[in-house]
Amino acid sequence: MTDRKYILIIDDEENLRHMLSVMLARQGYQAETAADGAEGLRLVREKAYDFILCDIRMPEMDGKAFLALALEHGVSSPIIMMSAYGTVDIAVECMKLGAYDFISKPFKKDEIVMVLKKAEERERLKAENSRLREVAAGKNAFCDIISRNAVMEEIFDQIHKVSDLKTTVLILGESGTGKELVARAIHCIGNRSRKPFVAVNCGAIPENLLESELFGHVRGAFTDASGDKAGLFEQADGGTLFLDEIGEMPIALQVKLLRVIQEEEIRRVGAASSRKINVRVVSATSRDLEADVRGGRFREDLYFRLNVFLIQLPPLRERVEDIPLLVDHFLAKYAAAMERPLVRMLPEAMRSLMAYGWPGNIRELENAIERGMILCEGNIISRECLPTGISGGGAPSLASDENLSIKKAEDAIERDLIRKALAKTGGNRTQAAKILEISHRSLLYKLKEFGIE
Ligand SMILES: Nc1ncnc2c1ncn2[C@@H]1O[C@H](COP(=O)(O)OP(=O)(O)OP(=O)(O)O)[C@@H](O)[C@H]1O
Ligand SMILES: [Mg+2]
Repeated sequence: MTDRKYILIIDDEENLRHMLSVMLARQGYQAETAADGAEGLRLVREKAYDFILCDIRMPEMDGKAFLALALEHGVSSPIIMMSAYGTVDIAVECMKLGAYDFISKPFKKDEIVMVLKKAEERERLKAENSRLREVAAGKNAFCDIISRNAVMEEIFDQIHKVSDLKTTVLILGESGTGKELVARAIHCIGNRSRKPFVAVNCGAIPENLLESELFGHVRGAFTDASGDKAGLFEQADGGTLFLDEIGEMPIALQVKLLRVIQEEEIRRVGAASSRKINVRVVSATSRDLEADVRGGRFREDLYFRLNVFLIQLPPLRERVEDIPLLVDHFLAKYAAAMERPLVRMLPEAMRSLMAYGWPGNIRELENAIERGMILCEGNIISRECLPTGISGGGAPSLASDENLSIKKAEDAIERDLIRKALAKTGGNRTQAAKILEISHRSLLYKLKEFGIE
């Protein structure tokens, strides 16, 4: 496991080196040895150890000299001095120089293990603190978008390049991948940031209202139009209009939208004349727009007009390295929101989070953390505080003592995954096959085999 800690033991007494190595190996440490300070120094310059145990009285280079030189070379591993009778005052001097701790010889097994465990805990806290500080300082983040994934960093670059232009941007990505966050980032760092950012969810507004919502209307344009009203395009004048779920735009409105974007003027519903507008359009969808174009549900000309600059957000399962960063971010966010002290994620819980597939992406992760913080006791989130699907709590029950068939368990998992993929894609088998990473044909075969409709 990567949790294994490397220890360097520097002591001129061969017996002690041997005894310590054997004992620490039993405790799960990986120990290496050096017979004096000079040899120790050579080793620490080649390799990073988690801890260094160093005797004080040695021929050639003694412990104090080793400590001074190691610190000078920027060695940051905790160095624990081992002092024999008569060298305690030197050990104290070493502490002042920067040694982590000291232990008096002869020591008992428990003593040395305890000193090491204490050092380990302190190192862990130090690492966690600096990670949290990085998160707080916005390192690994771009306009609140947290990531250190290479594809995401390229996207940050694209956002930079396109932000000051009026180019229409299309953002694609599965649900919860941060499409709206990216749209806001484009607006916020661009030259329109002082003007409004107006977001509209095209799927959430009834079809008959969407047109007047977008373009406005004049009094008497329809029964309920008691006065003139500016539409969202006008409200966003000078700024950015974010058309979310653009794939849900009714086909009749698509023509009108295309005209507005091309001519840069709008006509309120029922108005005789049109007015100029200056709006940057950013749109987003989690649907497969190209498939919608092929299927005649989305106009090709509008698709090309919106898709001048494409940003394709990767799903969370393709940027697993972001999970720890995001977890820290959300832990800090909800600790602040709930006015609670910082909550810690147990390693076992973290492993479950890393192993899970996240069909709902970052939003699902955020919800899981918020829920975990509510359920957890004593400021520690254990695996039990995570939703069952994530903690893997559902899987073991597949194999009861009576039924140890791997085939049956695999079938159950497959069936479950296929159901989820179909639910997520609204029954679209081509997309579901893609998510499942199997061919379309084998999906059809499995649907038949499992009797899934
Ligand atoms: N990289 C990220 N760093 C921090 N928070 C993120 C990141 N990506 C997404 N989030 C958060 O996750 C949630 C979902 O993001 P957002 O609403 O932008 O996703 P979306 O792609 O628009 O989802 P949907 O398709 O469901 O509308 C938000 O609360 C957002 O702040
Ligand atoms: Mg969204």
